[in-house]
Amino acid sequence: MPEMTEARELFMHELGDILYAENMLVKALPKMAKEASDPELRDGFTQHLKETRGQVQRLKEAFAALGEPAKAEQCPGIEGIIEEHDEFMEEEKPSAEVCDLFLTGSGARAEHYEIAAYSGLITMARALGERECVDLLNENLREEKETLRSLEKAARRLSKEQARAEKAAA
Ligand SMILES: [Fe+2]
Ligand SMILES: [Fe+2]
Repeated sequence: MPEMTEARELFMHELGDILYAENMLVKALPKMAKEASDPELRDGFTQHLKETRGQVQRLKEAFAALGEPAKAEQCPGIEGIIEEHDEFMEEEKPSAEVCDLFLTGSGARAEHYEIAAYSGLITMARALGERECVDLLNENLREEKETLRSLEKAARRLSKEQARAEKAAA
C-alpha cells in the first residue's frame, strides 16, 4: 500500500467510511423500530430509515460528483455501536419501558458518530472546493441533527414517564 499523502484521498476514504456506516444503519434501523414500543419513537426510527436510504443515495451522488466509483470502507466505529446495542438487548432483556429508554441513547450514539463524520467531511469538501459534495453532505448532516434532537426529546419524555411510574409503584 502506498502512503496516503493527499487530503482528497482522505476525503474519499472518509466518504467510503460513512457510506459503509449508512448501509449498516439501513439494516439496523428496522430492528430498532421493531424493538420500540413507544409509537413516537418507533415512527421516528421508521422515518429515519427512509431518510437513511436517501442519505446513501446522496453519498453515491457525492462520489459521482468527484468522478469516482462509490466505494464503501469497512467502519468498525459504527459496527461497535451496533454491537453494543445488540449485546445489551441480548444480555439485559430489558422491559418495554427500559428498552425504549435504551433505544434513545443507543440511537443518539449513532447520530453523534454520523454528525462527527459529516462535519469533518464538509470541512474537507469546502477546502477542496467540492461545492456539490458540500451541498449533499450538508443535507445529510441536517437530517442527522434533526434526528438527534427528536431522540433527545423522546429521552426526556420517556425518562420522566418512567420516573413517575416507578415512584407510583414504590
Ligand atoms: Fe445517516
Ligand atoms: Fe442517522
